Amino acid sequence: MSRNKTFIVTGGLGFIGSHFIEKALDAGYTIINIDNETYAANKDLKFSGNYSHIKEDISKIVDLPHCHAIINFAAESHVDNSIEDSFNFIRTNVLGVYNLLEIIKNKNIKNAIAAWEYECPLFVQISTDEVFGDIEEGFFRETDRHVPSNPYSATKSSAEQLVTAWGRTYKIPYIITRTTNNYGQRQHSEKLIPKSITSILNGEKIPIHGNGTHIRNWIHVEDNVDAIFKIIESGIKNESYHISSSEEFSVKEAVEIICKNTNSDYENVTSNVMDRSGADIRYALDNTKLSKLGWKQKRFFETEIQKIIEDYRSKKL
Ligand SMILES: NC(=O)c1ccc[n+]([C@@H]2O[C@H](COP(=O)([O-])OP(=O)(O)OC[C@H]3O[C@@H](n4cnc5c(N)ncnc54)[C@H](O)[C@@H]3O)[C@@H](O)[C@H]2O)c1
Repeated sequence: MSRNKTFIVTGGLGFIGSHFIEKALDAGYTIINIDNETYAANKDLKFSGNYSHIKEDISKIVDLPHCHAIINFAAESHVDNSIEDSFNFIRTNVLGVYNLLEIIKNKNIKNAIAAWEYECPLFVQISTDEVFGDIEEGFFRETDRHVPSNPYSATKSSAEQLVTAWGRTYKIPYIITRTTNNYGQRQHSEKLIPKSITSILNGEKIPIHGNGTHIRNWIHVEDNVDAIFKIIESGIKNESYHISSSEEFSVKEAVEIICKNTNSDYENVTSNVMDRSGADIRYALDNTKLSKLGWKQKRFFETEIQKIIEDYRSKKL
């Protein structure tokens, strides 16, 4: 895909979407961000470049501007919230995706001139390792069966089913990326890494679900964004890709690394809270397909965590 094109990014004021927008603007794309600014949005974030923002809900918007690709990051993304109340998850993560696909199918494109020939945009659905549920050994491949364990992952799985079905029936070209636990600058404070760092810096306890033994794969947000770009720019369509790193360790081990880099003692700064109902033991994705496109992990947990801690200390975050 050549770089003088227009991307609609949804959820671009969120954690991963905002990093994607920065990279896309740097690369010369025009970006239209559709974000209704939920509690998770970085509302003060400013982008420089060919950028505009439409404050709309993806489940309610009735038409879209002309674009070459829609990259759908918009979601309710916090598992704990989905266990408390799943309605917003159904609305954004399922009905939102349905609505966007219907707009594409029905060619509801704003300002389209009569003579303009409709070119179906690429739909990129940003999904999660959680759609597969957990795996004690081995790695999930792209074609494995979904067995989601919680309301959040069930809505993300449902969205994927819509994307592949609309792709096949209505010939909407699509890509699905599934990624593991992202970390990096600008993540909402409800998530483990920012919560751990801010709790330590504020002298508060870090709540650890269960004994912290659940294993996750940790990927830096910019490595994830690089991979999404690599896939889009490869021109491949109607495929799914796994995006994961080489770094797999438990929640306890992740927090211990933060403790080491803040001179804190794990036992003193944490308190165990009841495990999540239905908690997954281990997520793990096989990323061989992505590696064949030439993507490589460039950022590593401990080095990046030091930079994030520094940003919190100097109040850049
Ligand atoms: N963060 C992770 O570790 C992770 C891992 C795997 C997959 N994902 C997926 O990546 C995507 C982005 O995750 P994130 O962590 O950046 O999320 P986030 O919660 O930080 O941001 C979500 C953004 O979407 C916007 N939004 C929510 N509902 C909307 C709606 N109805 N209409 C328009 N905008 C809406 C919010 O205002 C916010 O800016 C999500 O689809 C998530 O499922 C995230």
